[in-house]
Amino acid sequence: MKGSILDTIGSPLVQVDSPEGATIATKIESFNPGGSAKDRPAREMIRAAEREGRIEPGDWLVEPTSGNTGIGLALVAAARDYDLTIVMPADKSEERRRVMAAYGAELELVEGDMEDARARANELEAEGAIQLGQFENPANPEAHYKTTGEEILEQVGDREIDAFVAGVGTGGTISGTGRRLREEFPDMEIIAVEPARNAVLSTGESGSDNFQGMGPGFVSDNLDLDLIDRVETVKLEDAEDECRRLARDEGVLVGQSSGATSLVSQRIAREIAEPDLDCPTVTGAFDDSAAAPEPDGGRVDDCPLVVTVFWDSGERYLSTGLFD
Ligand SMILES: Cc1ncc(COP(=O)(O)O)c(C=O)c1O
Repeated sequence: MKGSILDTIGSPLVQVDSPEGATIATKIESFNPGGSAKDRPAREMIRAAEREGRIEPGDWLVEPTSGNTGIGLALVAAARDYDLTIVMPADKSEERRRVMAAYGAELELVEGDMEDARARANELEAEGAIQLGQFENPANPEAHYKTTGEEILEQVGDREIDAFVAGVGTGGTISGTGRRLREEFPDMEIIAVEPARNAVLSTGESGSDNFQGMGPGFVSDNLDLDLIDRVETVKLEDAEDECRRLARDEGVLVGQSSGATSLVSQRIAREIAEPDLDCPTVTGAFDDSAAAPEPDGGRVDDCPLVVTVFWDSGERYLSTGLFD
């Protein structure tokens, strides 16, 4: 039995359809109690602030967020007894607002983008709220270093990881997870994914689109650019097509940023595939055998392995018409 809902944070690593001669495996982060990867930094930022004596239960917290961090913080704030105000752009999905409200958080919607939400959060800070600052707070990447990265290492067992693919919002996931994985696999490639129409890393210019969670329009302090070998872009409509394919063909229900990292993972896997190797395909759903599959043309360990992250569930996007 777990002592708290906060002790249930963690997710499985699951193989998805992969090109011949390679394996793609992804962290299905919707398994976290708040339904996304953001439960990890939410818990770590509050834990670190308590440890440093910056906050204590009963305090008023504020955070600008496009959604999932707000839900993660609302969950942790409820479990640890904090008041929380979330400031978010008004165009983000309805489901996210309702979930935060269900956890008891106050919501403030602002017209505009994340920059406008940040400006409003700064005003509330001046009125006495304490901001955790997911874009600057080192506890955000640290959460992924200590949990996402560590879990992946345990879950791949003896296999070597050739590439890690992740989308970029605050940069917490790619920087923390990437740093931990690189310690074990120094030659592993790290590939960042960003929206094609808001490609700050690729072009130096911000743009605008409706990608939720990815492409904040600026380079976050928490993004460790030195770790990144390559940046790939994905159009929103292609990412959404991929979400529909993942749901209908694979039974994997995820949101836009996951669709984007799925497409880039396939690109990378095709590049590094060794088609002569008979790599394992996704096993049957009713395969009870505990034994790892042994392909004919080589050992599983030899198959090039791409690891990625699917941040949240497609259920969080139903009202956007994504699956209609
Ligand atoms: C749906 C979704 N995808 C991707 C990301 C990007 O993660 P990170 O902020 O760790 O870069 C986020 C972050 O909020 C998100 O909510």
